[in-house]
Amino acid sequence: MSIATSNQTRFSLLVLPGDGVGPEVCASALEVLDVITRGTGLSFDIETRSVGMACFQRTGVFVEPETIALARRSDAVLFGAEGGPVWDKERERTGRPGALLELRSGLNLYASVRPVQAWPGVVTPGAFRPDAVAETDMVIVRELSAGIYTSRPKETTLTAAGSVAVDTQRYTAKEIDRIARLALKMARSTSVPLTSIDKANAMETGRLWRRRVSALAASEFPEVQVQHAYADAFLYDLVRDPTRFAVILADNLFGDLVSDCAAVFAGSLGMLPSLCVSTDGPLFLEPVHGTASDLEGTNSVNPIGTILCIAMLLEDLCQRRDLALQLRRTVASVVQEGIRTSDLGGAASTTEMIAAITANLSAAYS
Ligand code: IPM
Ligand code: MN
Repeated sequence: MSIATSNQTRFSLLVLPGDGVGPEVCASALEVLDVITRGTGLSFDIETRSVGMACFQRTGVFVEPETIALARRSDAVLFGAEGGPVWDKERERTGRPGALLELRSGLNLYASVRPVQAWPGVVTPGAFRPDAVAETDMVIVRELSAGIYTSRPKETTLTAAGSVAVDTQRYTAKEIDRIARLALKMARSTSVPLTSIDKANAMETGRLWRRRVSALAASEFPEVQVQHAYADAFLYDLVRDPTRFAVILADNLFGDLVSDCAAVFAGSLGMLPSLCVSTDGPLFLEPVHGTASDLEGTNSVNPIGTILCIAMLLEDLCQRRDLALQLRRTVASVVQEGIRTSDLGGAASTTEMIAAITANLSAAYS
């Protein structure tokens, strides 16, 4: 296999560990990155800034403007997690959306790419037959900039009849084309049709979504097959047979729901990385699992979601698909050997898992 490599070998990475298990998983990923820099010709200039509650307690904001400016100048950002009970209260009181959503808009992140694959030896939680889901290998391409998360009006007002809360779902043709183009490009490399989900049977935005995706596919990607599905029916099909899907295109809200649901087929939400794409700024990497506050400080969080973010970094920023594949293979062999954290039904600690991954990786480089 010939692998395209870029000439750039030095990259800037801003790390924003945040709340909950964020600092633990970011530290784990940095240990892996350290092994990679020692074993390959790549190097990373790493800076760390606080976001979320720690930042709020010091500065009164969840993310400082200087942090957003620094992020804009970086090649990539690794974000841990944000949230918690005090954070909830302060967010409500201040009316601020929180660091993650402020970063998404401040960095013009318009897509979240969330790969989901089954891992050998990892048993899917719940009622799924292992043999039926073992070949799962899909990627969710979630629109991240618009839709019901950000459209205005978005408010709660007190009326004579009581409180009224409003969220608005708004999509422009341009926003739909931008995300559809990314998903269609990704679908070029698979023979499985791209699945675009919407609620065209109930929503105007769904009807526009469907029309634009069809038109773009026909005009720019005639070689890609596209199938449209109503989001509800799609979820039914997904849980019946996840192996039927390869690239799934979804709006902001549906993409959020689908990625947590599909995580079951990877064995745990803790296994999912994500890479957010900006129109003009850095790549933004984030494990999908969130703060997992119940695991904070217990040395038991699964670091693989964040380590797989590093694989995405190697592939998409450094253009080193070879190194990304090697890291994914290393992760696969460690979980297959039975070194698994409790979310995967094992008893390994975070540090044990990291030690196994870094040892296997160092051996691969020597
Ligand atoms: C995600 C998360 C966020 C989202 C939350 C934390 C706002 O669930 O990245 O999937 O809903 O987008
Ligand atoms: Mn989510």
